[in-house]
Amino acid sequence: MNLSVTYMGLTLKNPLIVGSCGLTGHLKNIREFAEKGAGAVVLKSIFEEQIRMETEHFLKSDNEKLKEWTATFDAIVSGTPHAWDEAEAYIANFAKEHTLKEYLTFVKEAKHSVDIPVIASIHCVSKYDWTYFARRIQEAGADALELNVYILPSDFDHDGQENEQVYFDILREVKKHLSIPVALKIGSYFSGLAHTLKKLSGAGANALVLFNKPYNPDIDIHRLTISASEIYSGENQYQKTLRWIASLSGVISCDLAASTGILNAETAIKQLLAGANAFQIASALYKQGADIIPQILGGIESWMAEKGFDSIEEFKGMLGKSKIEHPVAYDRVQFMKHYAKIE
Ligand SMILES: Cc1cc2nc3c(=O)[nH]c(=O)nc-3n(C[C@H](O)[C@H](O)[C@H](O)COP(=O)(O)O)c2cc1C
Repeated sequence: MNLSVTYMGLTLKNPLIVGSCGLTGHLKNIREFAEKGAGAVVLKSIFEEQIRMETEHFLKSDNEKLKEWTATFDAIVSGTPHAWDEAEAYIANFAKEHTLKEYLTFVKEAKHSVDIPVIASIHCVSKYDWTYFARRIQEAGADALELNVYILPSDFDHDGQENEQVYFDILREVKKHLSIPVALKIGSYFSGLAHTLKKLSGAGANALVLFNKPYNPDIDIHRLTISASEIYSGENQYQKTLRWIASLSGVISCDLAASTGILNAETAIKQLLAGANAFQIASALYKQGADIIPQILGGIESWMAEKGFDSIEEFKGMLGKSKIEHPVAYDRVQFMKHYAKIE
């Protein structure tokens, strides 16, 4: 049975990618996922916001190096107006470099630990750092880069076009400086989703990862407080992704990776039939451990044997919107009696 696929120009031995999450922030897990048969792994994202927080912490800390530097700067800048501000910026930059270097070491170690493609992931908030981080990550040896961009359109002063422009600006800047493939992992908050994703594909994204799952706040009605909602995906959460993978496959030029709610072989097969080149799992690993990897792959193989398919290529996209007789099936949103078979 041939499970191999190509994803962003990379050859994967199968379409199962371990998605970026806390688990992929540890070498031990990455090795285990590779041993269990994963086709590729996306490392835990490096967050620019987190670096900023760590920088602040570093500046307030009792670090010996910092004390030494502070003393040196004090001696140099005493009596010079604004010089201390510059010195602080310099130290902050040092702290940022330090955190970034730790991530780069992690990328290198992950690459040496496994023989499957290692995709790094970055989530930044400023245009400068996206490109700077991306270049350094490429130098560290990552096989590809996933840009984790999630703009919640909650700012009353920015319209849809302004929000969406950010994705294009980041993608263009990063692509200018990188030769490794770049995937864009996004949420579904776009005013014209199909149109924008087609344009992002045309703007150079090698793949789109649909969709990242946002952290959602909830309300505790007993304590009358804001609480966190369930972090892990449930049984039916794959459906939004399925609709959009099916709608875009065969139409846009870049590859597609399905993400969210893929918890078993059945949901993975559905995404492949809809047209995904690969699929990512995270919640399934948290809930069931690394053995879910061979279970999903074995389930795909059994299904392929039952249907008489020898390779993924034979059925990938078979039920995408552009391939089926009644594409309107993917456009239905109302529970009309005729479709939903219920009054
Ligand atoms: C605990 C946890 C941490 C995550 N951290 C990241 C991250 O650092 N970067 C990222 O792009 N996605 C992150 N994700 C999102 C997952 O990669 C994935 O897109 C999402 O969980 C939906 O897939 P699933 O239904 O298989 O869990 C995280 C998810 C979880 C549950």
